[in-house]
Amino acid sequence: MTIHVKNNIHWVGQRDWEVQDFHGTEYKMTKGTSYNSYLIREEKTVLIDTVDHRFSHQFIQNLEMEINLEQIDYIVINHAEEDHSGALSALMAKIPNTPIYCTENAVDSIVGHHHHPEWNFKTVKTGDTLDIGNGKQLIFIEAPMLHWPDSMMTYLTDDAVLFSNDAFGQHYCDEHLFNDEVDQAELMEQCLRYYSNILTPFSGLVTAKIHEVLSFNVPVDMIATSHGIVWRDNPTQIIHQYLEWADNYQEDRITIFYDSMSNNTRMMADAIAQGIHDVDPGVAVKVFNVSRHDKNEILANVFRSKGILVGSSTMNNVMMPKIAGMLEEITGLRFKDKKAGAFGSFGWNGGAVDRIHARLTDAGFETTISKKTKWKPDGTAMRECREHGRQIARQWAMNDLSQPLQQTLINPVEPTIKASSGAQQPSDNQKMLCTVCNWIYDPALGEPNQGIEVGTCWSDIPESFLCPECSLGKDVFEPVAGA
Ligand code: FEO
Repeated sequence: MTIHVKNNIHWVGQRDWEVQDFHGTEYKMTKGTSYNSYLIREEKTVLIDTVDHRFSHQFIQNLEMEINLEQIDYIVINHAEEDHSGALSALMAKIPNTPIYCTENAVDSIVGHHHHPEWNFKTVKTGDTLDIGNGKQLIFIEAPMLHWPDSMMTYLTDDAVLFSNDAFGQHYCDEHLFNDEVDQAELMEQCLRYYSNILTPFSGLVTAKIHEVLSFNVPVDMIATSHGIVWRDNPTQIIHQYLEWADNYQEDRITIFYDSMSNNTRMMADAIAQGIHDVDPGVAVKVFNVSRHDKNEILANVFRSKGILVGSSTMNNVMMPKIAGMLEEITGLRFKDKKAGAFGSFGWNGGAVDRIHARLTDAGFETTISKKTKWKPDGTAMRECREHGRQIARQWAMNDLSQPLQQTLINPVEPTIKASSGAQQPSDNQKMLCTVCNWIYDPALGEPNQGIEVGTCWSDIPESFLCPECSLGKDVFEPVAGA
């Protein structure tokens, strides 16, 4: 199958709806992907990139239905990674003498993957051109580290199409090829996921390369990526978006992620998150358990955040392994201009929190004071965690919090706790909410595990009652509004 892109350009790539893993299992694809290859038929016929090696047979079969392979004059390989040059061995077996245009670095990586040093390589540098007839030229633009040292982009004059390879792409599969045809929220979510998880370390290069391309002062009518959609509607929108993302991007957002052996560090995370919200209701607070949540979504949230809080139980005097892995990834992604803090519960030593703090500092974050809690947090410890969250919110505020801050100083007692302190007596049928974990006590259900019979109103429940989810006492409960 081919899809007409523009004039004499057709998409001859491969959709992959079911792929879930990329870079081993490092990148989870939630919306599939595509491997985009393009056929240009002017006086000369040019193939831009191939597809993933797993689809070599289908790619060749599809291409042979479209064209006699012998008619291909030039092959351009913008990047040697297997998702783009993977089908090259199968193709070259059919047309072994066809020239392959690529960067000098790509000769090393193509030979390294395919083991055919005898192929007819034509190395190019930025600004080199290739005449393909009908008054059109290909202009090559080296783009090292976007995504490998071998990467380049290829610009087709007259049609004004930039074949950008990995840059401006996204792991996103859709039967539609163009950006204006697909769900915009899905598209931009995948663009951000792709940028934050793959390109963040190269942000400085992204900025420099974009400015270099812009300095050519050539029109760009389409950006034909090697993954996902082709940008044809306002194609420069993704260029401007990349410039924004590459500029130490952050939103008014705090990401908290943790791992927890016995739920204690999770309780701390909940309380800290609530404390942040108390002081700064405008900030987005996202909480993730690294053992249960999609790692790439967590990293995308880190990318979007002004600050992160990282929690772990202490196990063998070190942090839990999944947290260590996340910190290693975050170090490699080289986030800039972000704040961070550590927290966690411990039993007889608190080594995890100290190690997290050190690792965050080494990774370039501006670190703040840590928060440790011994064993399972009791009501007092939970209040301290909540206050810790409030302090973080004030330290990291992007907006003027003088009004909410003033209210907090005037009335430092937690409003929810005050509500359950007698100022507002629950009625017999009143449901009660645990303000720490959101478990709800319903008199119609009782709490059989603690001998609380059906129909028992809150005031008749003994003071020894503990929330079955987080094990805190009655003083952290408040009436459920409207219930
Ligand atoms: Fe899509 Fe770097 O390969």
